[in-house]
Amino acid sequence: MKVADIKKISVLGGSGLIGSGWATFFLWKGFDVNVYDINDALLQTAQERISGNLSYLADKGIITQQAKDNALGKAFYTKEIKDALCDVQFVQECAPEKYELKQAVLAALDQYGSKDAIFASSTSGLLITEIAKNSQYPERCIGAHPYNPPHLIPLVEISKGEKTSAAVLQTAFDFFKETGKEPIILQKEAPGFIANRLQIAIFREAADLVLRGVCTVEDVDKALCYGPGLRYALMGQNLIFQLGGGPFGLKGIMTHIGSTVEVWMDDMAAWKKWPAGFVDILQEGVNQEMANRKAEDGNTNEEISRWRDDKLLSLLKLINKV
Ligand SMILES: NC(=O)c1ccc[n+]([C@@H]2O[C@H](COP(=O)([O-])OP(=O)(O)OC[C@H]3O[C@@H](n4cnc5c(N)ncnc54)[C@H](O)[C@@H]3O)[C@@H](O)[C@H]2O)c1
Repeated sequence: MKVADIKKISVLGGSGLIGSGWATFFLWKGFDVNVYDINDALLQTAQERISGNLSYLADKGIITQQAKDNALGKAFYTKEIKDALCDVQFVQECAPEKYELKQAVLAALDQYGSKDAIFASSTSGLLITEIAKNSQYPERCIGAHPYNPPHLIPLVEISKGEKTSAAVLQTAFDFFKETGKEPIILQKEAPGFIANRLQIAIFREAADLVLRGVCTVEDVDKALCYGPGLRYALMGQNLIFQLGGGPFGLKGIMTHIGSTVEVWMDDMAAWKKWPAGFVDILQEGVNQEMANRKAEDGNTNEEISRWRDDKLLSLLKLINKV
């Protein structure tokens, strides 16, 4: 399979948060998309979400009204897995995070699809070797983990299983790159991949600071958002330390603060299990944080998601990613 051969894509689980985002993205980029879900009501939801996302892009001037209409015309909605998988070159699987569901749709692809079609799972951390273990064609299986919302956030973490072929990995990488994504390939399997491990490391420390009474949920979020978070949109932690170390770069900053940081690390959270009841404390704090927001920045999940997408688009324009 070559990138140029990819014309039609199947998105499995199209009414979900991630499936509707992926379908939006592929339609936006001009592909024919078979959108699959398990019943008519969910297909209706898929259609509403995808059409809502495309209308949003048109309203924001990212695509023209004509491009939106063309994209909508390229979607085919079906609850028949055979029809969803027939005659596609790429499958983006977005079913719930369970091995047995992902294995079942892969078995259907083995049965009904072309053996060359690439199978890309959106899994947030399941292992591809395990997902592909019963497949007749495990060499075509990869993980392609997006970040929410998948039609806006550029990162795609590509992971491989023991039997994934190098050619499939390369095609998937080139495909995502050509569609405007920022793919990275994991060199070996790691539960949680890269970005989610980083995210959880931050979340664990943030939660610990709240539980110890150092700060509120709102203040720990402010500390991230108005401090390092602003730089994270532009550069990663290593490059940040490179600049922070002046002429001596990353080595310089470690020489300066390395031994002090060892004292901090000794005091930092190292939990291997979530502490009992911690989630109720954080939920209460985040509810307060949401209530404290200015009304024009949104106070409900829906309002804040819309505010986030508006700001994300501005940021993506700034860094030439849209
Ligand atoms: N939510 C996130 O932020 C996020 C981010 C990245 C990756 N993911 C991953 O994406 C996948 C989907 O997550 P989500 O948050 O969109 O979940 P979701 O519950 O919103 O969506 C799951 C979709 O799968 C459909 N579905 C149910 N059974 C199915 C089956 N047998 N075959 C195909 N589809 C089926 C559901 O009807 C639903 O539309 C998961 O693997 C998840 O780990 C989620």
